[in-house]
Amino acid sequence: MYTYENLLVSLEEKIATVTINRPKVLNALNKETLLEVKAAFTALGSDPGVKVIILTGAGEKAFVAGADIAFMQPLNAIEGFEFGRLGQEAFMAIEGCPKPVIAAINGFALGGGEEICMACDLRIAAENAKFGQPEINLGIIPGFAGTQRLTRLVGKTAAKYYIYTGDMFGAEEAFRLGLVNKVVPLADLMAEAKAIAAKIASKGAVSLKIAKSAIDVGIETDFNTGSIHEAELFGLCFASADQKEGMKAFLEKRKAEFIDK
Ligand code: CAA
Repeated sequence: MYTYENLLVSLEEKIATVTINRPKVLNALNKETLLEVKAAFTALGSDPGVKVIILTGAGEKAFVAGADIAFMQPLNAIEGFEFGRLGQEAFMAIEGCPKPVIAAINGFALGGGEEICMACDLRIAAENAKFGQPEINLGIIPGFAGTQRLTRLVGKTAAKYYIYTGDMFGAEEAFRLGLVNKVVPLADLMAEAKAIAAKIASKGAVSLKIAKSAIDVGIETDFNTGSIHEAELFGLCFASADQKEGMKAFLEKRKAEFIDK
């Protein structure tokens, strides 16, 4: 149903797995791949058969080794701007997707690779994961919103260190910085991502969607405006059948059966 040139999409028990599939170039992101990422996340976001999405890279060596350097090398300034905006829009399709998105990071997550995983809601890293924003070594800066998302996720001090030096860092450092939720052996990566996805998929789709918006809209605004947004969304939950069922189930001392309405 979901067929792309550079992505593999599979669907099992309401969990979609999107695999960036250019292993010969360590899953580097060219224009076509970014267009497909944008299209896939937009489509999966409105597919009622999908509750949670996992994003990973093909092969064991790399999640995504960045934007495609061969594609970028001859670009002029206008084309560079347009390529940056395309990457930003593709990643906004992930961040703005109403379903939770989990990055399963299997190896290099550099430049655009670190940037795409930062647009996801959760990040599970394999022990071989290597992160970094090495753009400075290419005479450029991060262009797919890395200066914005890395700073928000790990703070200005660490973001400036890694963007200025271009140094790579491992999974444990990523965990220490709060960039990833969990570090697991590579052999367990997909099983762990799927277990977390299944746990999340057992919750109500309405409250998941609303929780994502409360956090993502709230963090980009001031505390009071974010709190008002939260209260409005909290109120909206009471229009859902899931809220009635969730609270009724608690009072009847049984497990809730959410029907996603
Ligand atoms: N773009 C295009 N091709 C890439 C690539 C990239 N980002 N990363 C790796 N490749 C290609 C290599 O050119 C190589 O192709 P060939 O076999 O045809 O030579 C193949 O993938 C395998 O890579 P290596 O031989 O280099 O593998 P390695 O194990 O020696 O090194 C690596 C692995 C350290 C990840 C190294 O490939 C590397 O440094 N890659 C580039 C990382 C990078 O700079 N990323 C940032 C890109 S800029 C960006 O992302 C901008 C932005 O924010 C929008």
